[in-house]
Amino acid sequence: MNKPKACIIGAGSSGITTARMLQKNHFDFDWYEMSDNLGGNWYYKNPNGMSSCYQSLHIDTSRDLLAFDDFPLPDDGPDYLHHRDIYEYLNQYVDHCQLRQQIQFNTEVVKATLTNGTTKGAIKDKLWKIELADSTIHYYDLLFVCNGHHWSPRWPTPAFSGQFDGVELHSHDYLTPFEPYDMRDKNVLVVGVGNSAMDIASELSQRSITKKLMVSTRRGVYIFPKYVMGKPADKFAALSPGWLPGRVQRFFMDLAAPFLVGQMENFGLPKPDFKPSQCHATVSGEFLLRAGSGDIKIKPTIDTLDGQKIRFEDGSTENVDVIIYATGYNIKFPFFEDDFIKVEDNQLPLFKRVFVPEYNNLFFIGLAQVLPALMPFPRAQLKLVEAYLNGKYALPSIKNMHAITLFDQERYSGHFYKAARHTMQVDGTKYAFELKTELKQGAMRAMENNYELSFPNQAAEYEQSLSDSEKISGGVN
Ligand SMILES: Cc1cc2nc3c(=O)[nH]c(=O)nc-3n(C[C@H](O)[C@H](O)[C@H](O)COP(=O)(O)OP(=O)(O)OC[C@H]3O[C@@H](n4cnc5c(N)ncnc54)[C@H](O)[C@@H]3O)c2cc1C
Ligand SMILES: NC(=O)c1ccc[n+]([C@@H]2O[C@H](COP(=O)([O-])OP(=O)(O)OC[C@H]3O[C@@H](n4cnc5c(N)ncnc54)[C@H](OP(=O)(O)O)[C@@H]3O)[C@@H](O)[C@H]2O)c1
Repeated sequence: MNKPKACIIGAGSSGITTARMLQKNHFDFDWYEMSDNLGGNWYYKNPNGMSSCYQSLHIDTSRDLLAFDDFPLPDDGPDYLHHRDIYEYLNQYVDHCQLRQQIQFNTEVVKATLTNGTTKGAIKDKLWKIELADSTIHYYDLLFVCNGHHWSPRWPTPAFSGQFDGVELHSHDYLTPFEPYDMRDKNVLVVGVGNSAMDIASELSQRSITKKLMVSTRRGVYIFPKYVMGKPADKFAALSPGWLPGRVQRFFMDLAAPFLVGQMENFGLPKPDFKPSQCHATVSGEFLLRAGSGDIKIKPTIDTLDGQKIRFEDGSTENVDVIIYATGYNIKFPFFEDDFIKVEDNQLPLFKRVFVPEYNNLFFIGLAQVLPALMPFPRAQLKLVEAYLNGKYALPSIKNMHAITLFDQERYSGHFYKAARHTMQVDGTKYAFELKTELKQGAMRAMENNYELSFPNQAAEYEQSLSDSEKISGGVN
């Protein structure tokens, strides 16, 4: 029997982890990357405009959590790598695995559609029809979506009332205090208190740079340190055993947090009206020091924009030259038809954050907001996919997948306050732990049903059967 042929969209860390799994399992695959090199977000000034790196960015995932199992990071590096080091590491890994020649660079996937099943010859499966920017069309049995979800800026919606006459940027476009706009000696307002806001505000608040640096927040925040007892803080988070019930884990986190973060009100921040475990972690070793030193002034949410004067909810006003919206990112799949995958309110429920229950040959990798870290998460997801592709794991029924997805969503994110950034939260440690049970259950299902591969494996054969003109215009729909 043929092995199915796969397509990977994207060569960021999720695409790389996917390609490695397919390579190890001897699957045939084509791998498309729209930029001129791999690395995605970690390719600073990526010519495709999709990197959200700023020059000073250090990852807040510590080195041991970050490294690929089969390619350790050099021992002499820092705990928290600079974005350039991550970019180099990803490049070295791809070369080490001899995967580079598999990537088709400067090749954007512009359209991905699932065919209806064909009438041509013996081909009956629903294949993936992939259209590239050069208008060529290719067919695949399996599609891996690894296009990232931190590249499409989310601007405040609805926009703040009034008209602002200064410069408005999104954190996605921020590079340095001088690029894309020179902020020396300016009054700058950063909106938001996520990790982008922490880094950018801390950097700009240096007295030698801006005249005045303000941060506007619509609610409180807990700002966790990067180090606890001299060790990277995420090492402690990763210690929480996966078997510990979520509510117990949260109880301990809420108990420990005040000792780690102190009283946010002491720094001029509003008192949070939620518990520390109810928000995606904000981490910074600098922000509180800068706020405590008077270099960052905390403001409430914006009420109205009036020329360069901004009125805040508490009635105070400030003259502002630049607003930086560090307000997060949208989930987007420009290559899917609008009615195929609907992302509503930044939500895309997925079974085990991988599968759309109705489609047996589509996999989303890295599409989650993971604590303690997103980058290692695809490894866990791909263990499930690997077993599935090798016939060692059968999916539950579509109805059960929907039910389990709802249940998981409530368990993983039900306790977070409602916000666009909390729609796909996952506890990575718990996910990896529960995967073992899921794999066993899937193996049982596979045996019970005398499992046969449930996804197509005819794309290569089909593409070969097409005439030259069909290869350009496309065969089936
Ligand atoms: C400022 C910032 C800091 C972060 N810090 C951390 C951190 O500390 N720890 C952590 O774990 N995560 C962090 N992240 C999350 C970050 O998204 C992940 O670390 C990682 O980059 C995700 O990899 P990815 O492959 O899923 O997506 P990306 O890195 O975005 O890669 C997607 C790739 O797909 C390509 N692509 C997209 N569309 C197409 C198309 N149509 N055709 C062909 N190619 C396409 C892109 O060119 C890109 O190369 C951070 C994110 C930001 C914005
Ligand atoms: N050093 C690092 O490693 C690093 C640096 C930057 C980013 N990251 C990661 O990158 C991802 C994105 O982070 P991010 O900080 O860019 O985005 P984010 O986590 O989505 O945070 C967005 C912030 O903006 C606020 N906000 C959104 N819409 C708003 C509005 N209309 N008005 C006022 N405030 C609004 C949010 O408040 P609400 O909570 O109220 O919605 C939140 O405080 C995260 O996974 C993060 O961990 C990591």
